[in-house]
Amino acid sequence: MNILGVSCYFHDAAAAILRDGVLLAAAEEERFSRKKHDFEFPQRAIDFCLRTAGITTGDLDYVVFFEKPFVKFERLLLSSMQTFPRSHKVFREAMVTWLGDKLWIKHLLQTRLGVAPDRILFSEHHLSHASSAFYCSPFDEAAVLTIDGVGEWATASLGVGRGTDLKLLKEIRFPHSLGLLYSAFTAFLGFEVNEGEYKVMGMAPFGTPRYVDDVWKLIKVAGDGSFELDMRYFSFHHSADQTFSAKFVELFGAPRDPKMNFFTPVSGYPEYFGAKPANFDEQSRLNQHYADLAASIQRVTEEVMLALARAAHRETGLTRLCMAGGCALNSVANGRILRETPFDEIYIHPAAGDGGNAVGAALYGYHALLGKPRAFVMEHAAWGEAHGPAATEQFLRDHGIPFERFDEQDRLIDRVVDRLQAGHVIGWSQGRFEWGPRALGHRSIIADPRRADMKDIVNTKIKFREPFRPFAPSVLAERTSEFFALPDAARHYPARFMLYVVDVKPEHRATLPAITHVDGTGRLQTVHRETNPRYHALIETFGRATGVPVVLNTSFNLRGEPIVNTPAEAFSTFMASGMDTLVLGDHVVDKRTVTG
Ligand SMILES: [Fe+2]
Repeated sequence: MNILGVSCYFHDAAAAILRDGVLLAAAEEERFSRKKHDFEFPQRAIDFCLRTAGITTGDLDYVVFFEKPFVKFERLLLSSMQTFPRSHKVFREAMVTWLGDKLWIKHLLQTRLGVAPDRILFSEHHLSHASSAFYCSPFDEAAVLTIDGVGEWATASLGVGRGTDLKLLKEIRFPHSLGLLYSAFTAFLGFEVNEGEYKVMGMAPFGTPRYVDDVWKLIKVAGDGSFELDMRYFSFHHSADQTFSAKFVELFGAPRDPKMNFFTPVSGYPEYFGAKPANFDEQSRLNQHYADLAASIQRVTEEVMLALARAAHRETGLTRLCMAGGCALNSVANGRILRETPFDEIYIHPAAGDGGNAVGAALYGYHALLGKPRAFVMEHAAWGEAHGPAATEQFLRDHGIPFERFDEQDRLIDRVVDRLQAGHVIGWSQGRFEWGPRALGHRSIIADPRRADMKDIVNTKIKFREPFRPFAPSVLAERTSEFFALPDAARHYPARFMLYVVDVKPEHRATLPAITHVDGTGRLQTVHRETNPRYHALIETFGRATGVPVVLNTSFNLRGEPIVNTPAEAFSTFMASGMDTLVLGDHVVDKRTVTG
């Protein structure tokens, strides 16, 4: 039985295909369309899924859409009516866009895919998130927590999964939303909503959470973990372009200018910002204020997520927890849930944001709606498109790009390890691209984590991004506990997907300066031989040569662009940046030979 899951028209459009309950492929539309966070109908991702499954739309038994458009439309109408006339703009935009394609999804799927109407099923937004977490987990029984901005009405839900059965027991409803609270601060701190949330998390360790009491004026948590926002501080419920209100500004001061460089007395002033400004001290103090705010909203978010997780444990009595929804990408909060709640094991879907709902919807259809048994555990995130050696070589030859080809993996790895030790920054593209926002050794930029200057080199020559954002370590799963405060690391699934931030062991912080954040933590990825053998072999060989089985890993893209997919995209990113070496499968390109 072939089931296609589709998520679109909100944040990240994506498609996924299941055969007899086993995932064959899943990808976000942005990787094909090259539009970051593309939310349009994911035609290219659907085509890729069908291609991978070796079928056409005529072979689809069901298509499952990730949410219920009419219920969502109802929420938009009702909430803008409540705040009319302030919300007239939201109301007008909703009518214009929703009366187009969004509302008539069933008809659209029917005409675009040629599928009969009785073959089109609908999940609900938070059920899709919950399914993406529980049905992909290895657990037979678990509490399930979903937390995001908003779906139809729900912004967070608590459920229980048992076998093929998944039920949501309670939910928190719009406008009370932890995701939208975090987004309001993201906007206030000068970053783009749905994109800059990581930047707030990266900025937080530079600050002291001195405004926690003020942030608690915005959100109240009850004894059962549920919460309410004080809506006087927000405008997202009646405005299309403003998330926080004048009262918010009264409390926290003026918002940060998005064009302002971020530096504090601790971060110092990096050379690549140019000449040090005359008013360095004053600007530095101002940035410190914003870093303190970032630390405060991050701390409150962690406390709210901890309260939800503790309540989930109390109400279900279960020891395993599954999580999804955009807030489940808050890897600092996730690490605390593991350490500070009674749950012993956690599973988080790697594409915890709305893209992941394509997989969630398909699994919901298969297990919950059709009652079929479970047949799949998501052990890794490599569900995207691959480009084999023949296609890669063709591309290199067609463009006259000099390369070396290594048919033996050991020789390839020896070459890459030599380059890493020589300080090269390497574009590493192998096999199928990753599902979800993190690069996990399939479309990664890698470097030597032992060099203190590597953070600046990668930030300035390669990623052209904010200097305060930390880089992640990829570490052998079996040796993780030597370097990071994560005992028994191999059994923790979220660590495979880079979804836990934990302490770098104090004795190794000086060994690993390029991946240790200012507060001594690291957002680690554990690498398993069974699921990523070539990347594992690379890190193992690097470990034998240096004593440190860890590489610095950041996503293979330039700032603001989607992660690369094809050899052509990898090569153009390589050329547009200061990367030294490019590895495309078995083929190695050296920048020195290309530029002459
Ligand atoms: Fe969501």
